[in-house]
Amino acid sequence: MLRSVRQIRQYAPDPVPAEIVEQILDVARWTGSAVNSQPWHFIVVRDRVSLVRLSALRAPIEWLATAPLGIAIVLSGASPIAEAYDEGRVTERILTAANALGLGAGVAWFGTEEHQTAAKRILGVPADRTARSIVMIGRALSRRDPRPGARARGRKARAEVVSYDRWGSRT
Ligand SMILES: Cc1cc2nc3c(=O)[nH]c(=O)nc-3n(C[C@H](O)[C@H](O)[C@H](O)COP(=O)(O)O)c2cc1C
Repeated sequence: MLRSVRQIRQYAPDPVPAEIVEQILDVARWTGSAVNSQPWHFIVVRDRVSLVRLSALRAPIEWLATAPLGIAIVLSGASPIAEAYDEGRVTERILTAANALGLGAGVAWFGTEEHQTAAKRILGVPADRTARSIVMIGRALSRRDPRPGARARGRKARAEVVSYDRWGSRT
């Protein structure tokens, strides 16, 4: 199952039931973090106006407004490197939890510092916090990437990304 988790960018508008959202939030808050710091705060964004404003920040994330809901990840900003790692971990768990519950999910990065500042204003996040991404969740309409010039979605061959015992040893 895990191997088939993909970035979804086209959603049906039906709302995600509150109990499903809570299950996903519980998976998220139980994610491990550096020294168990749990540097995150999650904003469940359902408000259409906010979603449309976030989607307008930059072209590669325009699709996000098709989803009924997103979970924005806000970090304390105290330990940027550890928090970036923790953010990746929690993002992946939200994606896999959504999939396990029969939904699709996809991450959108707000973009540059200026875009992040704008996103924080839209979501009412204090300026000293870090907020650079939102994970969209909903019923997947398609796995296709609707963006013009979408990249290939395959993966490098196992032999290209794996060594055994020492760098470059293929066996
Ligand atoms: C750090 C990070 C930022 C991402 N930002 C965006 C984004 O802003 N917009 C977008 O459409 N996809 C974004 N993605 C999703 C990637 O494009 C996606 O993981 C990759 O293309 C593989 O997709 P697939 O698993 O469906 O093949 C991001 C992924 C990561 C890990």
